[in-house]
Amino acid sequence: MPRPILATIDTTALRHNLARMRACAQDARVWAIVKANAYGHGIERAYEGLRAADGFALLDLDEAERVRRLGWRGPILLLEGIFEVRDLELCSRLDLWHTVHCDEQIDMLAVHKTSAPHRVFLKMNSGMNRLGFTPDRYRAAWTRLNAMPQVDEISLMTHFSDADGERGIGSQMAVFASVTRDLPGERSLSNSAATLRHQVPLSDWIRPGIAVYGSAPDFPLHSAADWALWSTMTLATRIIATQHLVPGDSVGYGSAFVADSAMRVGIAACGYADGYPRLCPSGTPVLVNGVRTRTLGRVSMDMLAVDLTALPEAGFGSEVTLWGRAASGAVLGIDEVARSAGTLGYELMCALAQRVPVAVQD
Ligand SMILES: Cc1ncc(COP(=O)(O)O)c(C=O)c1O
Repeated sequence: MPRPILATIDTTALRHNLARMRACAQDARVWAIVKANAYGHGIERAYEGLRAADGFALLDLDEAERVRRLGWRGPILLLEGIFEVRDLELCSRLDLWHTVHCDEQIDMLAVHKTSAPHRVFLKMNSGMNRLGFTPDRYRAAWTRLNAMPQVDEISLMTHFSDADGERGIGSQMAVFASVTRDLPGERSLSNSAATLRHQVPLSDWIRPGIAVYGSAPDFPLHSAADWALWSTMTLATRIIATQHLVPGDSVGYGSAFVADSAMRVGIAACGYADGYPRLCPSGTPVLVNGVRTRTLGRVSMDMLAVDLTALPEAGFGSEVTLWGRAASGAVLGIDEVARSAGTLGYELMCALAQRVPVAVQD
């Protein structure tokens, strides 16, 4: 019998969340962002839930090939564009649209021999200072691309740094709007947070990632439930042992939790080697048989301890939901667990370990 740990990907929830994002920007088309192996969900597993998207946006050529192999004939966008000149051959062969964010990528395009010109997304660095042409250099890049036989359509894009926070998108939006005012081409600006929280007037293509995967981009200000997003990944296991503690007894490495009264503890078959964050302290929420309780002590490689004191029915074999939906329907948001570890839902879903078996549920 395998270890009882299992991750479940909920295709219905993916479909729901995608539709929810589409409804937020009704006239826009929707890129489903499937980089990082569909935020840890697995491109092949998530595909069925996301195929109602207008396109798939990702980073690796390998991921693009996988999407094509699934039978997708629509648009695919490389969010970081090409990394070396021979990538352009694959772009031609697989009909990939690609972001152009720096002069070196334009230089590579200039020496590329192709009979079918490429569609590119010219990226502006409107304030994030990661990728893109600065506003003063953006139009020159556009003019250069526009004169090249290797390029047909040029779309315009930028990425917001603070759509989930207090600074918002105002200043980046103003820069982008003023520099691109009279340039033709479709626009793509909004990630999940911008789509949910802001009215973005110039959006032909939205680019939601995290919201499609059922996590709130601005947690704890809003939860996934506040945004009507459904949990898409459940990580569940079972209790494989129980312990009775008397006051003064400790649990796990470093005796990081010490009982001050009699307690019953369950040992769950999930640890940091499964992708559960080691940094989650005692008190991190967890569901046992769908009922909320807490973790105790340090997370070890293969196990963690949970408090069963108030759950007398729970014991060996009981269901433990680390995040996601329990069999009872109760949900523990991945954002809550992430917060306990001082991180984001993004990191937890992307870090689901290889060794965890995954089921797909529709
Ligand atoms: C260029 C770009 N667009 C869209 C997204 C999706 O962002 P989110 O997952 O916050 O919706 C990302 C993710 O980092 C990105 O890098």
